[in-house]
Amino acid sequence: MKTVVANWKMNVGVRESVALARASLLTLRGRKMIPDLVICPPFVALSEVRKVVARSSATLGAQNVFWEASGPYTGETSARMLQESGVTHVIIGHCERRIHLHETDEMVNKKILHALGEQLTPILCVGESKASRDAGEARAIVEAQLSSALRGARLHTQGRLFVAYEPVWAIGTGESAGVGEVIEMHRFIRSVLEHVFPDAHTGQFSILYGGSVDGENAYSFLREADVDGVLVGTASVKINQFKEIIASAAEVLEAQRPT
Ligand code: PGA
Repeated sequence: MKTVVANWKMNVGVRESVALARASLLTLRGRKMIPDLVICPPFVALSEVRKVVARSSATLGAQNVFWEASGPYTGETSARMLQESGVTHVIIGHCERRIHLHETDEMVNKKILHALGEQLTPILCVGESKASRDAGEARAIVEAQLSSALRGARLHTQGRLFVAYEPVWAIGTGESAGVGEVIEMHRFIRSVLEHVFPDAHTGQFSILYGGSVDGENAYSFLREADVDGVLVGTASVKINQFKEIIASAAEVLEAQRPT
């Protein structure tokens, strides 16, 4: 299977989110094979987008979660509250939060533990900076992010974990990573996950690529067996681009279908 995660970030309000959700779902229409689509609108639009998504195969994701179940945490939202809003997936550790809100590896870890404990599927974002890649430290950075984010984590037999490899230098820049770089890092991430969760089966992990995925390059990533899907920001709010991404995923799935 292939998954397409649409991370709308803080780019659309409630009304625009509803319209974009409808338009995004239309891109699935009439296709024999469709990817799993996870739509992550801003928090304020979750309940309205939920109504649109409810009539489809798509699921709802949140862009963040707090690590406590309830309490005096002004402005925060727990996993259970998200579930009540129909959310099944949650993006954790996105580099924009690490950069602008100083989210640390320790905070990311607490969020992962909380989400998994409440049966929400985390979409854990990891990725190196340009300087780290140039210094040949990309793997070491990703490994350190994974091991600290997943410290103490347990995956139930039915549990799922998504990891999005998102090199910081590729996010919102129009400069995506090379397919070779992505394959190499995805294989490495899978090996780390197998080490961290020795009892899990491979179907419990999905490794996505994110960073300037658009209508033109999506196919080159999605056709790779090591790429379980894509996490799309900028192009997910541009419906023509998004349509191309869904078409690419559908084409790959069609080609893989046993005859
Ligand atoms: P982008 O963002 O597609 O705009 O590069 C990806 C992301 O931030 O998840």
